[in-house]
Amino acid sequence: MKNPKHDEMIHLLRNHRSIREFQPKRIPSDLINTVLAAGQSASSSSHGQSYTIINVTDDKKKRMLADYAGKQKHIRECSNFLVFCADLHRLEQIASLNSVNMKEVIDSTEMLLISTIDAALAAQNVAIAAESLQLGIVYIGGIRNNPEPVSELLELPYRVYPVFGMCIGYPQPDKIPDRKPRLPLAVVCHENRYSSFEDVYPKIQLYDEEMRDYYASRSDGRRSDTWSGAMLDKRKVPRRMFMKQFLNERGFSLR
Ligand SMILES: Cc1cc2nc3c(=O)[nH]c(=O)nc-3n(C[C@H](O)[C@H](O)[C@H](O)COP(=O)(O)O)c2cc1C
Repeated sequence: MKNPKHDEMIHLLRNHRSIREFQPKRIPSDLINTVLAAGQSASSSSHGQSYTIINVTDDKKKRMLADYAGKQKHIRECSNFLVFCADLHRLEQIASLNSVNMKEVIDSTEMLLISTIDAALAAQNVAIAAESLQLGIVYIGGIRNNPEPVSELLELPYRVYPVFGMCIGYPQPDKIPDRKPRLPLAVVCHENRYSSFEDVYPKIQLYDEEMRDYYASRSDGRRSDTWSGAMLDKRKVPRRMFMKQFLNERGFSLR
């Protein structure tokens, strides 16, 4: 027998859209803690839980983070701005207290991946939990435009870096965008072996037309590009080329 909750969950997941317009209303702290605890229930590599979430409620800090992220006003206007950090500091401290030399391990690129993935999995759980409570979210990679000032502002120690932020709050009901169509499933999910680009390209072309309509309707006809065009436009300029050096300076991926 089908569990009715199953359909609700699938509907919730398929109904996601990023929210960038929030009501000026605070989320009660017990509710935000419920959401954060749901985030914490995500799996983590070897149960290492190698991440820290900074829950930014201070208006001045939110304003500064909004500026660092490229003047994204939703950071100022949301109730809570969560900064998801990859964290190897805790492990390093525990190793030091126990006189275990973990330097080679903590320096490794593998630990960069582990801690970044742990942070991302916790974040997506937070997103789903928030949406299940009719809250809205938007991820903010923009904080990596200025990772050093962000780290300083949040007093992140060595071996901790900000992966991305997330605005969370009550959506403005009349400003909820349409759901963005996704690539056809067969483009991103292949069976038993990698499907050739030639096989999936016709599906991408169909999607390009669907997205052209989507962009046009979202911009009252002002925008007429396709998804491929938008991606090429967005990705053709190298961005945040300081990231390798920044990560190294924070003690990530040193070997
Ligand atoms: C890691 C990550 C970083 C993102 N950074 C930003 C950002 O800085 N600003 C923003 O407005 N949206 C940001 N987004 C939201 C994406 O633009 C959005 O998820 C995507 O366009 C799909 O739209 P949807 O979430 O409404 O389905 C980010 C999303 C992810 C996953």
